[in-house]
Amino acid sequence: MADTYEVAVEKSKKIEADILVNPKKYRVLTGDRPTGRLHIGHYFGSLQNRVRLSKLGVPTCILIADYQVLTDHDAFSEISQNTKQLVIDYLAAGLVPSDDVIIYPHSYVPECNQLMLPFLTLVTNAELSRNPTVKEEIQAAGLKSVNAGMYTYPIHQACDILFCKGNIVPVGKDQLPHLELTRLIARRFNEKFSPNAPVFPEPEALLSKTPSIIGLDGTQKMSKSRGNAIMLSATEDETAKLIKKAKTDAERFITYDPENRPEVANLLMLISLCTGEKPEEIAARIGEGGGGMLKNTLTEALNEKLRPLRAERARLEQSPDYIRQVLLTGASKAREMAITTLNEVRHVMNMEI
Ligand code: TRP
Repeated sequence: MADTYEVAVEKSKKIEADILVNPKKYRVLTGDRPTGRLHIGHYFGSLQNRVRLSKLGVPTCILIADYQVLTDHDAFSEISQNTKQLVIDYLAAGLVPSDDVIIYPHSYVPECNQLMLPFLTLVTNAELSRNPTVKEEIQAAGLKSVNAGMYTYPIHQACDILFCKGNIVPVGKDQLPHLELTRLIARRFNEKFSPNAPVFPEPEALLSKTPSIIGLDGTQKMSKSRGNAIMLSATEDETAKLIKKAKTDAERFITYDPENRPEVANLLMLISLCTGEKPEEIAARIGEGGGGMLKNTLTEALNEKLRPLRAERARLEQSPDYIRQVLLTGASKAREMAITTLNEVRHVMNMEI
């Protein structure tokens, strides 16, 4: 696994360099499950990167994985609302929908979902049950019984990526097993049905450079369900209150020491992500100022950084028709691509009538 990760990091670097020269050679496909609003961990970890890639001119498909919510959640009453909140977060963060930048829920792209049927036949049960990310999710959700959607959603994720021939997928480490499966499916499909003219690319991961952001409790990854996150939609006062409660340590003098002082280092890192200054320099400036000054500095930096995004967010909240239109336009463009791909797939599988 360590090897795979190192290889993925190296490949990511090469692709990053090539994107600057040939942005149109690539298509980014990535997405989120509509389980709630996004927090600053999403913003610094992936959202900013998506905005950057789309501004470099890389065609970008952002998929809202509504079916995936059903794999480990019983509740589905809020899927539609959460989908719209995600779009608001995306747009407020700077994604600009266009012919090349589309946002859509996968339940609105039937031809993408239809790829599932041939793809299911290219993967074995054993391969599905050893997926480490799926295993972790089953554990984390404490599922007593596991539905077949849970085991098979990584195949569905391959449909998400391959229907538009996405060839770069900006993801975190946890998604690498899914991407590996997508590559396997693409390879097996091409070998079996179209050995002389591959239908699908084997997509590559683009790993984020931002280290994973720890929550305000200082121990685990930032996540809404763990109650340790600052939402993009939080007010400036809410942000200040959350940061006041953030865990630090007993030592007064502030230093940047990720190994021995992970909580303090995390807060310094967040300031650094807002201001661009190095965490060591910020620590040196605060020094004797202690935890109080560290928290005040972060509150100010974060509120200032997010002010334009939050203003835009509030404006977009007032335009539900526009948000819906963004999704419908995205879905219709996605469908065009999916129909073309499905026709190609039918052709190579000798199913045309
Ligand atoms: N599984 C991803 C998550 O949990 C969401 C997702 C669905 C996705 N389809 C995708 C990510 C395709 C990248 C590419 O966050």
